[in-house]
Parts: sequence; structure tokens; C-alpha cells
Amino acid sequence: MNPSGRRIRAVAPGRVNLIGEYTDLIDGMVLPLAVGLSTTVEGVGGGDHIELRSADEAHPVVVPIDEEDPVEAATGWGRLVAAVVTEVRPEHGFTGSVTTTLPIGAGLSSSAALTVALALALGFDGDPVDLAGVARRAEQRGTGVPCGIMDPLTSAAGVDGAALLVDCSGPTIEPVPVSDDLEIRIVHTGISRRLVSSAYADRKAALDRAAEQVGPLRLLDDPGRVDALDDPALRRRARHVVTENRRVRDAAMVLRDGDHVALGEILSEGHASLRDDLEVSLPEIDELVRSLIDTPGVHGARLTGAGFGGCVVVVSEPGVLDVGRSVRPSAGAHRSGRSGSGAA
Ligand code: GLA
Repeated sequence: MNPSGRRIRAVAPGRVNLIGEYTDLIDGMVLPLAVGLSTTVEGVGGGDHIELRSADEAHPVVVPIDEEDPVEAATGWGRLVAAVVTEVRPEHGFTGSVTTTLPIGAGLSSSAALTVALALALGFDGDPVDLAGVARRAEQRGTGVPCGIMDPLTSAAGVDGAALLVDCSGPTIEPVPVSDDLEIRIVHTGISRRLVSSAYADRKAALDRAAEQVGPLRLLDDPGRVDALDDPALRRRARHVVTENRRVRDAAMVLRDGDHVALGEILSEGHASLRDDLEVSLPEIDELVRSLIDTPGVHGARLTGAGFGGCVVVVSEPGVLDVGRSVRPSAGAHRSGRSGSGAA
């Protein structure tokens, strides 16, 4: 609930994906973690519209709460805000601000952090899976990108000290503890993501076409089954998700066992698959990944997120790298109110 006149603060983290890229689109497996970088929506409930300011945006967004389709009339980041309003249908308006410590467009899910935090601030009541569903639909509607459940679910359900092994078909979540002797770093490629939405939609369409021909890809344990696909590009896309599903399960197993060398090898294999089969990497990114893998004490590295720029995730012994930023798995989104119980 978001009673009128009450001051509300909702915080939602971004995520880094250890492994499991584009597998949420086939209801497969992913292994992300919420990170300590987050987006905060803070303000006061009341009135008949949502008014939000952001230090990163030139203009405030104003969305009436009783308009049937507020997304139609909205532009820029207002589309995302309007799409959350459509999903949550708040009882009262809200006036407040958005601040973030997440770099925008770095592939760390800044948009999922915004939609999750905003849904909570507007009074969404429900469990993390439902919250993720609301945020996902809002992002699909607001951006037109047919994104999966991984980013909002990680933001909503993050666990302090653990990566999340998610079976997206449920979805079900199993926390996998990350020990302190594994360093996880994110290194920005320096490339802000170009063409990512059209390429993303194109990969999704290819996976859907492949599934029409060989059946649900998440159920194909044997990568050999994708050889039945005639189109070589479809074959490569399907092979990526089928082999990636296996890598996620293997990565969760070795992470649980504390075998960080094996974990690194799986991540580096995952990068090769993103480069050669899914084709979402770029030569400059491959070069960065190679040089990180060649650094003594580094177990493995790969591009993380949708690709074509953004960040690389690196796993290593502690203290061997000083590029990028070290991250630890953090708790998921939460809400607090200045008076009363209010925690979500
Ligand atoms: C984006 C999407 C996710 C997922 C990744 C790729 O972050 O929002 O749903 O598909 O790309 O793994």
C-alpha cells in the first residue's frame, strides 16, 4: 500500500550475470547476482498524477494515474514510468525523485532497477516473482524490447552473499553462496551498447523459429539435436542457448564446490559461444576478454548482458586486478516508509 501523504523510499539493485545469456528467452537457466549499485525512488504519495525528477534527465516526467494508456502519450524515460503506472495502477499519485549509482547503458540492468524500484514506490504489493513480472511487462511495453525475466527477477529477489541459480520456466530460485576468496569484477568495455534492441529482438525471433522446428530448446540436453536445423545461423543461435544451459548448471555446481578455476573456464567458454554462435560480441570486446584471461590469477572472463558493448565480468583470485570495479552479491529490492511498518 502507498497511503497518501506518506514518505516512501524504494531501492532496487542492478545485476551482473555470471553466466546464462539469452537463456531466459527459452525459459532456461541463468546464474546472475544483484550488485550493490542501485536505483532509489523517493517521494511522497498523494494527488492524481505521478511526477518524477531525475538528475540524469533534463525534464521531469508527469503521468496521470487515471489515463487508460499513458504510454501512448509519453516520450523518453517517461515511457518506462508510464508503463509501470499502467501495470501497478496506483491508488494515489506520487511526487518524488529518482537517483542511481548504476551506470546507464552498461548492461547492468539500470532499466530493471528503475521499473522494480518504481513499482514498489507506487505501492506494488506481492512476492518478488510477481514484482519481476510487473517490471518485465513494463519494460517490454515501455521500450519495445522483448526482454526476459532475468533482470527484474534478480533485482527483486537478490540474496546477500549469493548468486541466484534461476530456472526461468518456474521461475524458481536457488541461492548459490559466493565465497570471499572469489573476486567478481565488472570491467566496462568502453562501448555503449549500439543497436542492441534490434539485435536482441532478432536473436529472440531466431530462437523462436528454431524452437518451432526442433521443439522447446530448454529441453534439448544434447546439442547435437540442433544439427537438424537447416539454416546455419539458426543452428548457431540454438546451439548457443542449448550449450549455455548446460554451462549454467555446471557453473552453479563448481561454484558451490568452491572450484573457482573450473568456474572461470566455464565463463570463458561461454564468451566463445557468445562470440561465435550467438554473435553478440565485438572484436574490441574479444580482445579485452583475452587480455583479462591472460592475466595471472584470473580464472575466466566473459561479456555479460545482452552484448554489443556494456561490461565484461571477470572472476579471479582476490586482489590480482585493479581495472573496473569489484562487486559482491547483494540483497534484492526493498521499500521503507517514514512512518508505520511499510517494509516490503
Ligand atoms: C537483457 C535482457 C535479459 C536477458 C539478457 C541476455 O539483459 O533484459 O532478459 O535476455 O539481456 O542474457
